[in-house]
Amino acid sequence: MQHIEPSVSKREILCAETVAGPGALVVFGASGDLVHRKLLVSIFSLYSQNLLDEKFYVLGCGRKRFSDEQFRRKAVQSIRDSTDPSVSSDLDAFAGCLHYLDGDYDDPGLYKRIKSKLVELDRKHEVRESHVFYLSVPPFLYATIVEHLGSQELACADGPDSNLRTRLVVEKPFGRDLESAAELNHSLGRCFKESQIYRIDHYLGKETVQNILMLRFANTIYEPIWNRNYVDNVQISIAETVGVEHRAGYYDSAGALRDMFQNHMLQMLALVAMEPPISFEADYIRDEKVKLLRSIRPFDLNKLDDFWVRGQYGPGAIKGTDVKGYLDESGVKADSRTETFVAAKLSIDNWRWQDVPFYLRTGKRLAAKDTEIAISFKEVPYSMFSSVGLDELPANVLVMHIQPEEGISLSFQAKRPGSKICMSTLDMNFSYRSIFSAEMPEAYQRLLLDCMVGDQTLFTRQDDVEVSWGLLTPVLEAWERSGAVPHTYPAGCESFAEADRLIAADGRQWRPVLHD
Ligand code: BG6
Repeated sequence: MQHIEPSVSKREILCAETVAGPGALVVFGASGDLVHRKLLVSIFSLYSQNLLDEKFYVLGCGRKRFSDEQFRRKAVQSIRDSTDPSVSSDLDAFAGCLHYLDGDYDDPGLYKRIKSKLVELDRKHEVRESHVFYLSVPPFLYATIVEHLGSQELACADGPDSNLRTRLVVEKPFGRDLESAAELNHSLGRCFKESQIYRIDHYLGKETVQNILMLRFANTIYEPIWNRNYVDNVQISIAETVGVEHRAGYYDSAGALRDMFQNHMLQMLALVAMEPPISFEADYIRDEKVKLLRSIRPFDLNKLDDFWVRGQYGPGAIKGTDVKGYLDESGVKADSRTETFVAAKLSIDNWRWQDVPFYLRTGKRLAAKDTEIAISFKEVPYSMFSSVGLDELPANVLVMHIQPEEGISLSFQAKRPGSKICMSTLDMNFSYRSIFSAEMPEAYQRLLLDCMVGDQTLFTRQDDVEVSWGLLTPVLEAWERSGAVPHTYPAGCESFAEADRLIAADGRQWRPVLHD
């Protein structure tokens, strides 16, 4: 497909990234794996693209005892392991921006030391009261850390606009039900204003997810047909090949609904189904997302099985390699009822989507890694091609390929060379890789830069998390009460009978999982 660029100059200006101003990033949980594998690598990438100000530093805080030097060495190693060697020449200079403090998160002394360290480092790096606090710690520590930051007056520095430059970033999971999420919002809100809080959902930082808004609202051809008059159904799938990995401690008490559905799946659904916002600004977009989430029909708890299917992977094989079942994974309870797969049928009660089913599914240890959003349009009402029945004219499907394939495809019927009535289903494909031939940036890079420049568009707001937990908490409680066990599916499968039945009941089927 050809890349057409009509008014290059103006668009090039828009493509230039906003550079973060002088500032400090204070990372809690800095000795942890995520910080080294993702965060520091992304910060370095921003640094090497000159997207960070020269007046910038990182203060890592963690339980493990490290000197600045040891922290720098570990960071440099992680970055080297996952960065192109051509850019690692900047690494020594970058390492000079890294500092470390150890201590216990519930010890007030740690925060006193952080406070005086920030004064010292602000002076050294010429940073003025622009601090981003990033919590990469288990969620039960969020409230404690925030309370201590508040009592040391680190949450809102003095000055008329300085509170806007002190920010708090929290990772998911954000609560485990409505009550805990609301309680957490309340704790954060005691020290930070909503305009300072950045709740991360890394799916929102993916280029292909951001593109949903461009596709829908920077073109005229989709919006007129993006409704119940033309759309038959929508499917959103996140299939993973990985299992629980080393995270059984967290995952076994969470499960797929809390881990993937409440956040990533519902966020993608909101972007696909919301009304057009009046402008591309954080709160206008977030208002529309929340409105959409509010219009999802609550589930009839007496008929949950008509709307939900839960699965748990058993032993099987992924790409020819034998893998354990979930119950045999280390750290998983032998009688665990945690779901590793969940599928649901959702209805949206508004004028645009009445009677259009939304089928959502996500699972671990499936046949391939494949995330996509598929909009299936209605079939043609009548076949004018006498010998071709309606069942031979498949409906058009617009697919947003989120990952690992990144692009968009549209299937349609077309004449094939041959007899006068010879037809095929063809795909019009756009692939990011072949058009832009550049590696797609890590979602964390986008999100880190956005919180440093103060753009909340790609972060979830308080009402958003509460509305989504409000929808799902009754379902979680009903499952808990029933004690029902998830269906077992063999690792490496594309789907399984009970999941198929959910959608077959409406005369439809799941789209195949794409193999690389
Ligand atoms: C995380 C979940 O939020 O997303 C993981 O906790 C999951 O269980 C991961 O594997 C998937 O992310 P991605 O970007 O690889 O699709």
